[in-house]
Amino acid sequence: MLIRKSNFAEHYPWVLASSVVLALAVVWFIFASVGHAEWPSGSSLPGFTFGVIGGLICLFEFLIWPRKKLRSWRIGKVSTWMRAHIWLGILAVPLLVLHTGFRWGGPLSTTLMTLFLLVIASGVWGLILQQFLPEKMLKEVPAETIFSQIDYVSDLMAGEASQLVRSVCNITSDSDDAEKFSDGSHIVVGAVRNTGAIQGRVVVTSSLQESVPDSKPLYDFFNEHIYGFLKNGEMAKSPLQNPPRAHSMFNSLRTKLPPRAHEVVTVLEDLCNQRRQIITQAKIQFWLHSWLWVHLPLSVALIVLMFVHVFVAMKYW
Ligand code: HEM
Repeated sequence: MLIRKSNFAEHYPWVLASSVVLALAVVWFIFASVGHAEWPSGSSLPGFTFGVIGGLICLFEFLIWPRKKLRSWRIGKVSTWMRAHIWLGILAVPLLVLHTGFRWGGPLSTTLMTLFLLVIASGVWGLILQQFLPEKMLKEVPAETIFSQIDYVSDLMAGEASQLVRSVCNITSDSDDAEKFSDGSHIVVGAVRNTGAIQGRVVVTSSLQESVPDSKPLYDFFNEHIYGFLKNGEMAKSPLQNPPRAHSMFNSLRTKLPPRAHEVVTVLEDLCNQRRQIITQAKIQFWLHSWLWVHLPLSVALIVLMFVHVFVAMKYW
């Protein structure tokens, strides 16, 4: 969820309400401690109340999971749930710290507090990433593709490029790639183009090139650098991953080829550019989602342990 100056009005009521609750809690806590040598514990009236409110907030926080999975329930807008999730989650931190009376307690309550703080920290980290990664993706990955299709798209690019190079370099072979991607006389090249203000990946069909004499350097360059990079991306550890380096390598390749082969070099350069974007996309998507692998399992553990804590606390009260 984005938190910007422009949409802060939607967050403001949550910030205000949380601040008021927090201020009242702090005042109550301070009044309850006057005349006592120690801070009020979790079993004092204010401590117990903050524990109950904090615990209910944790339960509510967890409910965002079923709410997201069962969108057909339509209990409130997801964006409202998300705002409540963020601000109530943050409010729960001081409330539960007051509940502890600034003590870690035994192993169970220490584990519970550690889990809680890790869930909060991972949530805040995820929220921070959500503030800039989607924008970075829009800017740096105009050729964004469907995440689950990245391997397929990469294979397709490598196959198309291979077919193009073979036809220009007049290599006749019945390799799998050539057959798989051939429709006879055209190949399909996904290129990044501007249409008005919109930039994105468009499909361009390019007629198969006539063979160009003396284009062996193209074939060698393709085999040495391009094919592996298009197919395996970062794993190929290719210098083509670096844009200025790639640019100068393609320029030097052009100088070794007859002008008739230059158009193909441009197509290959474009494909490498798209492959670089796919690498960036995979990285951004990794960072956008990986924190949930911490946030979600730890929040499940938190809820389970919270019930154990309540049970144990009530039993020995
Ligand atoms: C007790 C505290 C918390 C619990 C138990 C909790 C639990 C959860 C759960 C179960 C999910 C759903 C995971 C999924 O979509 O697979 C979630 C999502 C999320 N939480 Fe928390 N959370 C807590 C606090 C926080 C806090 C304090 C923040 C931020 C300040 C936060 C930020 C987020 C964000 C950004 C999402 C992802 C929503 C989305 O974009 O899909 N959480 N949380």
